[in-house]
Amino acid sequence: MTPDTVLLLVRFVHFWAVFGLFGTALFGLYAGSAARALIGPRLGGPVALMSVAALASGIVWLLVEAAHFGGDWAACCDADTLTAVVFETGFGKLWLWRLLLAAALLPIVTMERGPARDGLLIAVSAMLAGSLGLTGHAAMDLGWRGVAHQANHAAHLLAVGAWLGGLLPLARLLADRPAEALQTNAPQTNALRADALHRFSTVGIIAVGIILVTGIVNAGMIVGSPIPSLATSWGRVLAVKLLLVAIMLAAALANRLVLMPGARYAAIARLVLAEQILGLAVVAAASLLGTLPPDGAM
Ligand code: HEM
Repeated sequence: MTPDTVLLLVRFVHFWAVFGLFGTALFGLYAGSAARALIGPRLGGPVALMSVAALASGIVWLLVEAAHFGGDWAACCDADTLTAVVFETGFGKLWLWRLLLAAALLPIVTMERGPARDGLLIAVSAMLAGSLGLTGHAAMDLGWRGVAHQANHAAHLLAVGAWLGGLLPLARLLADRPAEALQTNAPQTNALRADALHRFSTVGIIAVGIILVTGIVNAGMIVGSPIPSLATSWGRVLAVKLLLVAIMLAAALANRLVLMPGARYAAIARLVLAEQILGLAVVAAASLLGTLPPDGAM
């Protein structure tokens, strides 16, 4: 497999893991104590898996960058090349901090459930998601334009994490499987679901607003226009990404405006699953987008 192909795969896994961690941790903050108590124990496994995936994919991403830097796979494990990448490149210095953050997640997720663990999980996962904004095409701008572009991109990725990552715990809450103390359609279960859905939907609307504005600004800073040009592969991939996002938004609107008022939780759960699958496709497109030359030069 070429370094480019491996890079695409680890970017996808890393984005998925980091967004999932941040969105899940944030959901615990706004979904309410009852929802937190119900799904907290059922999210231990996915949170641990995403923490390991964030660290492992982060390490492989660095090794692939070293392979690129050295011109072949052998360079990825060459001490001199790795040292040069880590301590002499902007990417390397940032990545070292990001790997330390990802490593810090492992003991945090094993801590006893409570405000300390939840707070650390939110803080560390937010730094992991936001710091991705300092990489990619946003890192190509210098001076104040660079600061503005990276801050915009960090906001884009944090909002993406809040929306996409929050779908995982929401899906768990809606899952039609009687949990220990709770019957599926008992009045208190539906009241809890309705409350958590409403809170998620409100956070989702804010996140989508931020995603749209920061996405348009990103495109404007990279190619000078928010309208993707189909003449370049970058433009075509962004167009596919926007089409997928539009379908996701249609599903979210159907949930908010049609299914939620009718308390049709099984149908809502199916649309949330569809949003998750579409969201993975958008992250896959974004994983490719950030590696393509925006002006179409190959
Ligand atoms: C669910 C919705 C979305 C998700 C999951 C998403 C995800 C991402 C990710 C992961 C990146 C980082 C790529 C990188 O740094 O290499 C990114 C970059 C970007 N996104 Fe989004 N995004 C979403 C919606 C949007 C929308 C609606 C727009 C446009 C209005 C947009 C425009 C951009 C642009 C221009 C970039 C920069 C690409 C580059 O650096 O080459 N995104 N997005």
